[in-house]
Amino acid sequence: MPLNRTKIVTLISEGKEGDEIVVKGWVRTKRGSKNVVFISLNDGSTITNLQIVADPNHFDEDLLKDITTGAALSVSGSLVSSQGSGQGIELNAQSITVLGKADALDYPLQPKKHSFEFLREHAHLRMRTNTFSAVMRIRNVAAFAVHEFFHKKGFVYLHTPIITGSDAEGAGEMFRVTTLDLKQPPLDEHGDINFSEDFFGKATNLTVSGQLEGELGAMALGEIYTFGPTFRAENSNTTRHLSEFWMIEPEMAFYELKEDMDLAEEFLKYLIKEVVSKCEDDITFLTKRELDEEKTKPQNQRHELNLKERLQFVLDNEFVRINYTEAIDILLQSKPNKKGKFTYPVAWGIDMQSEHERYLVEKHFKKPVIITDYPKDIKAFYMKQNEDGKTVAAMDVLFPGIGEIVGGSQREENLEKLTARMEEMGINELDWYLDTRRFGTAPHSGFGLGFERFILFVTGMSNIRDVIPFPRTPNNAEF
Ligand code: 4AD
Ligand code: MG
Repeated sequence: MPLNRTKIVTLISEGKEGDEIVVKGWVRTKRGSKNVVFISLNDGSTITNLQIVADPNHFDEDLLKDITTGAALSVSGSLVSSQGSGQGIELNAQSITVLGKADALDYPLQPKKHSFEFLREHAHLRMRTNTFSAVMRIRNVAAFAVHEFFHKKGFVYLHTPIITGSDAEGAGEMFRVTTLDLKQPPLDEHGDINFSEDFFGKATNLTVSGQLEGELGAMALGEIYTFGPTFRAENSNTTRHLSEFWMIEPEMAFYELKEDMDLAEEFLKYLIKEVVSKCEDDITFLTKRELDEEKTKPQNQRHELNLKERLQFVLDNEFVRINYTEAIDILLQSKPNKKGKFTYPVAWGIDMQSEHERYLVEKHFKKPVIITDYPKDIKAFYMKQNEDGKTVAAMDVLFPGIGEIVGGSQREENLEKLTARMEEMGINELDWYLDTRRFGTAPHSGFGLGFERFILFVTGMSNIRDVIPFPRTPNNAEF
């Protein structure tokens, strides 16, 4: 008798009537009568619960009492065709061991609907719910697909540092890393903190991006990508911002902006395709979840397409590509602008707000949009300066419901132009970075995909705190 544990996902696809098996998992619900007990068991391998049927007269009363929502069980028995209306198989229990009890009065997750706010406060347990286990399985498949995509293309996975000694990357506020005694830090002759006495002999921070080191890799290995955590100490309390998030940053020698955009579009579609084909059950569940949630919302706040349809729509359609100047013209001509409905005024030179991005993507084009050639003053120092002297070869990919999902650019490869821009912007470190331009410089490009923003899109979740296991946001670093 094969008594190794079988995962429920395997049982569902391969289990046959009469198979003798052992399953282990956590009780979702228990119900029953004097003559029969039904236990719904989930082991995390799939959204589907296995129904366990037990004859109460066959089991000890105390044991049955310990089978409550949240308890961990090991159950052995034989598979039978399901008697109920739902098809498939269920397990006729011969023996049950309670591996771990979950006292019904103390266990926070009751067999009922909990709000996402409540579950965020119980993030250490929320992966035991259908929604969060589905999101985490999708996250896993997407992460693997990232590596698969680049591996197939021969990109080198480059591990860039998390602790960085440069504070000039310009992508946002940074978190300081220090071992100095904060009560009595060493001071220099000006009364400033003397970081030369700090652990690394200089001031260090958590990285906001692996790009600058990624460029060094690309200018040696040709095509690289990074995939790691990045940190931003901005006080942005939105449904799209985390203080700690994961970013994928490919960087490619000899690519110009067009090829950079082509790669970003191909990459996003590949990831979506993988999730759609490998996470069918979870996507079906999340599609239904979203529909249920939207029933409580007014019509104009509901999606026109459901989650499954939205994913297919992105796969079936080419992304729109327009430049910043064209995008501003569309916004200027738009109804909400003429009626004064935008909170932030539209003019050439503005850093588009999410209301503007959402208008373009959700109302005007109703498709993912790539916007290129932004004003240089709202973009990073390293972006390639265009001939017009006003714009840079930047590109942002905007997604419906998300806004910016990818940010990237061709890089300025000309040493003189780059150093002139850095001087203008008051950046005077990064001599090591400039060596790529001093020695064998070449056109190169790259972009960054915010992994959680991508997971938001493919799961239909609406708050970025709900697509990472343990979110870090201002005033929140629990667990
Ligand atoms: O546009 P960003 O700041 O670009 C960079 O960091 C470049 N170094 C990328 C590159 O060219 N290699 O960030 C890239 C993406 C954004 O488009 C967004 O999806 C995500 O990272 N992102 C965030 N995601 C969650 N929380 C935040 N606070 C984020 N900030 C950016
Ligand atoms: Mg950006």
